[in-house]
Amino acid sequence: MSETFFVTAALPYANGPFHIGHIMEYIQADIWVRFQRMQGHRVHFVGADDAHGAPIMLKAEAEGVSPRELVARIAAGRPRYLEGFRIGFDHWHSTDSPENVALSQDVYRRLKGAGLIYSKPIEQFYDPVKGMFLADRYIKGECPKCRAKDQYGDACEVCSSVYSPTQLIEPYSVLTGARPVLRTSDHFFFRLSDPRCVEFLHEWLGQPGHVQPQVANKAREWLSGNGDQALSDWDISRDAPYFGIPIPDAPGKYFYVWLDAPIGYLASLKSYFDSGKARAGGEPRAFEAFLTDPDTRQIHFIGKDIIYFHTLFWPAMLKFAGPPYKVPDNVHVHGFITVSGEKMSKSRGTGISPLRYLELGMNPEWLRYYIAAKLNANVEDLDFNPDDFVARVNSDLIGKYVNIASRAASFITRHFQGAIEYGPDLDALARQAQQVSEQVRASYQGREFGRAMRETMAFADRLNQEFDARKPWVLAKDPARRGQLQDSCARALYGFKVLTVLLAPVLPDVAERVARELFGLELPLRWQDALEPPRRVNPYRHLMTRVEPKQLDALLEPPAEAAAESAPAQKGPAIGQAAASAAQGGVQAPAKAVPPQAQAPPALSIDEFKKVDLRVARIAAAEQVAGADKLLKLTLDLGTETRTVFAGIKSAYEPATLVGRLTVMVANLAPRKMKFGLSEGMVLAASGEAGGPYLLSPDSGATPGMRIS
Ligand code: 2FM
Ligand code: ZN
Repeated sequence: MSETFFVTAALPYANGPFHIGHIMEYIQADIWVRFQRMQGHRVHFVGADDAHGAPIMLKAEAEGVSPRELVARIAAGRPRYLEGFRIGFDHWHSTDSPENVALSQDVYRRLKGAGLIYSKPIEQFYDPVKGMFLADRYIKGECPKCRAKDQYGDACEVCSSVYSPTQLIEPYSVLTGARPVLRTSDHFFFRLSDPRCVEFLHEWLGQPGHVQPQVANKAREWLSGNGDQALSDWDISRDAPYFGIPIPDAPGKYFYVWLDAPIGYLASLKSYFDSGKARAGGEPRAFEAFLTDPDTRQIHFIGKDIIYFHTLFWPAMLKFAGPPYKVPDNVHVHGFITVSGEKMSKSRGTGISPLRYLELGMNPEWLRYYIAAKLNANVEDLDFNPDDFVARVNSDLIGKYVNIASRAASFITRHFQGAIEYGPDLDALARQAQQVSEQVRASYQGREFGRAMRETMAFADRLNQEFDARKPWVLAKDPARRGQLQDSCARALYGFKVLTVLLAPVLPDVAERVARELFGLELPLRWQDALEPPRRVNPYRHLMTRVEPKQLDALLEPPAEAAAESAPAQKGPAIGQAAASAAQGGVQAPAKAVPPQAQAPPALSIDEFKKVDLRVARIAAAEQVAGADKLLKLTLDLGTETRTVFAGIKSAYEPATLVGRLTVMVANLAPRKMKFGLSEGMVLAASGEAGGPYLLSPDSGATPGMRIS
């Protein structure tokens, strides 16, 4: 029976381009969507930018643009990635949209009507210079327990103690450096602790299939309250200035970004329906009718870091807002992606740049296959390992899959003008094919993509073994064995067609080309097309190249500008990653024939200069690096985040003398993996004939995070 799905992936913050973690999630969801469509189900797959919140507002301000300009710029970059990796959202929208304003306010009014919203005064730190309340991450000070300096307002990174910002000693605003003052303001709360919510959520989590068992366990733990930490109600309001959706009848109050973000899923669906695109795709109903149809299934793909929002607040909001809103049918949670075992930073996404992958001309379907091959239905992290990537893609896609077609098709076109005819024992192969197709279908259905790929490749192995055992290249020399030659190649091509259908959710381009060019089939391919034996094949045309290890080297190597830093004398006074690399036997500076300051670098335009994100940074910690001759490890506080930088300044500075001082860093230098760890930027220093390095410092008054221009 044909089903109807409404599928989403987590909405990305509109403050930066996609990183590999986003792409991994979208590929997972996209494979699932394509698979369901091949089963004949109707799927609406929508996304949107998560546009609101203080970080986006502050980032826009720092760049001298409005939040909407920033969001529009980020949104404009999305199609390149989505098209590049063949991620087929039907619609891409924004949480900063009229649909989302209307829906968020509607949900809020309904929750209020249900008695689940209340307000109460909250005392909170306020930055008197900036004129805004400060979230915990915008407040720093000394840890009340271990007295470590420059710790965030909620927890100490040194001793791991947890506290409230008011307990910090000598607190300061990371936005202005000002001492924050306590102020009271009314906040709105969603009563998650209401027995109706708790009862409903226990019931929802208990129904099999809504979430994975380990996710349900985690959510139940939160719901039951952890020891002395009872389940809290949810603070859903923020005071102006805030980039968000105004709360009805509450001047100066906005919805906290996490309230309107998931409603953005619905806003995107509504905008999609209103645009008429869904009708063109065969959806005759309006948004409300679609949602209230008991056969509509609402499915969210998310990462493990946002389980709380999607398994407690979101279902409860939808449930108590009432129809046409419906509670999710499934929330599918995946783990993080690591690169060679290293964790990725959510904000910067170090490791693999998806854009660089595309710019290097690497085949998007290699990555789709690799990710599919490593995904399962559990909340496990997935490691991208470059050697494994090369081995799997080349061995499976080229060695096992594409090669069958290239070998078998050429015999059939050369000797039989493309006509495929089978010998008498096709039935056994057809039964095998049917069995494999059922297995693989079940694996895709259960999001066990890795298992689906293994089952598919096991079938490819069998086809290759049979083909090799029959030795068609020997048969081709004997006119008396023409029938056997044709049958051997026919069987291989039948198997290849089956493989193509089984791989189509993962390799949409290759599958489409095989269907159209090689077998002349009607598109789109459906799952049941697999089993129909092909009767003709057109001349084989190259389908996919091998991945070269050097492409992975290029993908993982630091971008050109970081590599150039390896020659400090040529670049002038900049050090940090530069000197560090030289210290480890990287590119050495030429002999001191020309003093650095005598070098005249080529002129650059103001636009080129503006690409360098120079920031004031406070040196929060400085340490010796065991085994390094020239390096110190610096922890730099940028106001809203900290960075680790390895700087070649050991010869000139005692670490203890650096702690607490302000300096200047290049904040948008691509992170660079070094022997001693990841270096996430570069500090600036002067050096020349008179010695050095001399670390740069801003004048007094500057505070961490300030932009230098
Ligand atoms: O964690 C994040 O990146 C959020 N922008 C995800 C939002 S998902 C949904 F709620 F919109
Ligand atoms: Zn501490």
